Amino acid sequence: MSSRPLRKNKIQFHDLHTSRNEFASDVLKGLSVRPASIPPKYFYDAKGSKLFDAITQLPEYYPTRTEIDLLSNNAAQIARHVGTGSLLVEPGGGSCAKVHILLEGLKPRAYVPMDISRDHLQLAAEELAIAFPWLEIHAACTDFTQEMSLPPSAPRGTHVAFFPGSSIGNFDPDAAVVFLQAIAELVGPGGYLLIGVDLKKDKAILEAAYDDSAGITASFNLNLLSRINHELNANFDLTKWRHKALYNEQVGRIEMHLVSQQDQTVEINEDSFSFVEGETIHTENSYKYTSDEFIRLASKAGFQSDELWIDGNRLFSVHLFRVNDLQR
Ligand code: AVI
Repeated sequence: MSSRPLRKNKIQFHDLHTSRNEFASDVLKGLSVRPASIPPKYFYDAKGSKLFDAITQLPEYYPTRTEIDLLSNNAAQIARHVGTGSLLVEPGGGSCAKVHILLEGLKPRAYVPMDISRDHLQLAAEELAIAFPWLEIHAACTDFTQEMSLPPSAPRGTHVAFFPGSSIGNFDPDAAVVFLQAIAELVGPGGYLLIGVDLKKDKAILEAAYDDSAGITASFNLNLLSRINHELNANFDLTKWRHKALYNEQVGRIEMHLVSQQDQTVEINEDSFSFVEGETIHTENSYKYTSDEFIRLASKAGFQSDELWIDGNRLFSVHLFRVNDLQR
C-alpha cells in the first residue's frame, strides 16, 4: 500500500488496489460455464463510465434524479439524525452530485471515497477539495467489494456510510447481506448507513429504464465486449450480439444479457468459446425491493431502520440505518 499526501495534506491518497489479472480470470471463468456470465463491475472502463453517466441522464432512467431530489429535500433531516463533524465513507464514490448535497447538508469532518478506479478517484478528490476547502479527504483506491477498510489516517467520529444509486441491487441478496455486514463492521457501534434502494414497481417502467429508446443502455452492455477485445486480445464481433433487458418478477430483479445472434466462436488470447444462436451472456442483475423487504435484509446484517424517505411516485427509496444496539 502506498500513501502519498496531495495538495499539502488536504487529500490523502491510499492505493490498496489489487490484481489486474482478475479481469482476465473472471472473464475466462464466466465464459467457460453455461449459462455464461460476466460480473457487472467490469462495465466501468473509461467508455463504460461515460455511458453510465449518460444513462443517469436518460428520461427512462428515473433512479438518479429521483434519489437526488430525495437527498436534497431531506438533507436537513438526515443531518439532524447523524449530526455534524462525522466521517463520511462512500464505497464507490467520489464524483457525483449526490455527495455534494450530503457534504453541504451534513458538514462532516472528513470524507473517505473508495473506488477501484485510481484516475476517477484522484480527479474526484481534487474536485471536492476545491469545492469543499474545509473538508479532510482520505481517498482509498480499492475494490470495496473485496476489501473494506478505512485508511489508517482517517479520523475518529461517528462513521456514516453512504451507498447511493441502488448499487446494492447489483448484489445477489445473500451477497448484499455480506456486503452490508462489512459496512456495519466498518462504521461500528453507533454508526450509520444511508443507502438508496430502487423499489419494486410496474414491469414496463422497469424494463424501459434498462432498455432506453436512445439505445444508450444497449451500448453500455455491448461495451463490455469491446473492453474484452481491447484489454484481453479477443475478437468479439459486436454486430453479432444484441442487448436484452427483462424484469424477472419471480425474483424481483432486472436482468441484462447479451444475446448471440448466430452460432459463433470467439477467441480470447489462446482460448476459444462457442455460442449457439440465442445463447446469452448474463451481464447484470439489478434487484428491486419493497421497503419492508429491504429493512428485513439490512436487519440480517445488523442494521435497524432509523428513517425512510420515498418519493411521491413511489419509484425510489432512501433508507437511513443505524448499527443495531445488539451489535455493540
Ligand atoms: C450501477 N447500478 C446501480 C445500475 C443499475 O441500475 O443497476 C447499473 C445500470 N445498468 C444498466 N443501467 C444502469
